[in-house]
Amino acid sequence: MTDQSITLEATPLHPLFAARIQGIDMHAAASPAVIDALVAAMDEYAVCAVPHATPVGNEDLIAFAAHLGPMDAGRSPKITGTGIRIPHNEITDQSNLDQDGAIYTEGDRRLLFKRANRLWHTDMSFRQVRATYSLLAAHEIPPRGGNTEFADMRAAYDALDEAMKKRIDGLVGEHCYWHSRTLGGGPDPTDEERAGRPPAYHRLVHTHPGSGRKVLYVASHLARIQGWPDDEARALIEELTAFATRPEFVFSYEWSDGDVVIWDNLATMHRATPFDDTRYVRDMRRATCREAPIHS
Ligand SMILES: [Fe+2]
Repeated sequence: MTDQSITLEATPLHPLFAARIQGIDMHAAASPAVIDALVAAMDEYAVCAVPHATPVGNEDLIAFAAHLGPMDAGRSPKITGTGIRIPHNEITDQSNLDQDGAIYTEGDRRLLFKRANRLWHTDMSFRQVRATYSLLAAHEIPPRGGNTEFADMRAAYDALDEAMKKRIDGLVGEHCYWHSRTLGGGPDPTDEERAGRPPAYHRLVHTHPGSGRKVLYVASHLARIQGWPDDEARALIEELTAFATRPEFVFSYEWSDGDVVIWDNLATMHRATPFDDTRYVRDMRRATCREAPIHS
């Protein structure tokens, strides 16, 4: 905490979590007091929408995100034969645009993989050093569709019955990027693609470092449970995912141009919703913070 602590104006958007935050301008340098207040808001709400009159550019988004923890600076998943539209390692291109700014055409391998984002997931659970905050900046949104839905995994854990809490206590899941791509209807990865994304292992339940709340940590990347037969693991993963995404735990965010939505991957799941993705531009750019610095 800094000497001059402030409280940001937060408008709750759902009974359990998510708020719209006023008083942050990511076009300008952020003060330590603002960052402290935002972290406190994130520990409470887990999803914070920060409106801006004009889109927050790549450099400004990177500069702001750097205040929130070690940043991810790896390239987006290497999809064979593709180029790069945004020349910043810290930005993940979440648009439906190719390197020349043209909308992907139906059948494009990149579009097929991206559609897996319509499955419930947390960002980078397939990495051993997980994502903490994701900051997604809207540059252009489609006229219809394309909401992002969030699920409060703290509230979901709290609502599990005691028998289930006992059953999953201490279990370790294997998360694999290609598992969700395949589940989402994408093509089989090449050997090179597969080798670039080995699995990672995380407990199904963790205690959130900021809020101290227990969190259910499942995602569409979760492929197996250590020590369990695959069919039993699948059944449990599906049961937990269905429970955690019941309507009472879910909030759907309707984007406006210029919004930056920050979500806590250690407290929520999210998914993209459909839009006419071979007709309309949806230009979204993400900066991501990690649990610890990545040097490779
Ligand atoms: Fe995501």
